[in-house]
Amino acid sequence: MFNWKENYSCNIEEIDRQHKRLLEIGSELSSLIRTKNVDHYDEIIQLLDELKKYTIYHFKTEEDLMGKYGFHGLADHKKVHQSFVDKINEVDSEDIDENQKGVTMEILVFIADWIEKHILKVDHMYKDFLNEKGVF
Ligand SMILES: [Fe+2]
Ligand SMILES: [Fe+2]
Repeated sequence: MFNWKENYSCNIEEIDRQHKRLLEIGSELSSLIRTKNVDHYDEIIQLLDELKKYTIYHFKTEEDLMGKYGFHGLADHKKVHQSFVDKINEVDSEDIDENQKGVTMEILVFIADWIEKHILKVDHMYKDFLNEKGVF
């Protein structure tokens, strides 16, 4: 679900590295919920928080890069980032406590799907532009 694929590459080292790290946090979460009959509440909350913080850090890296080189799609891209952060912020820790696996799985499916589509459709819009500016 959170495997890196070569076609995700934005051909920019730092961005690829950050995308890989995001996927890694996602797969840590998904292996947590595969362990049977153990209460992982604290770890789930902690990893979700890490994912949120890393996501915000990553979005800032992208937005700074786009801003620095004057990419025309920055404003729209920022909006898409913000709506994802809002969505993650909506995750209710009480729901997770009552139904850890179900809720976490739902969140993970959403996140995995979002990351893949976002990288391929939205992040790839700045790829050629930045590469042409000499950013790799
Ligand atoms: Fe990204
Ligand atoms: Fe992005």
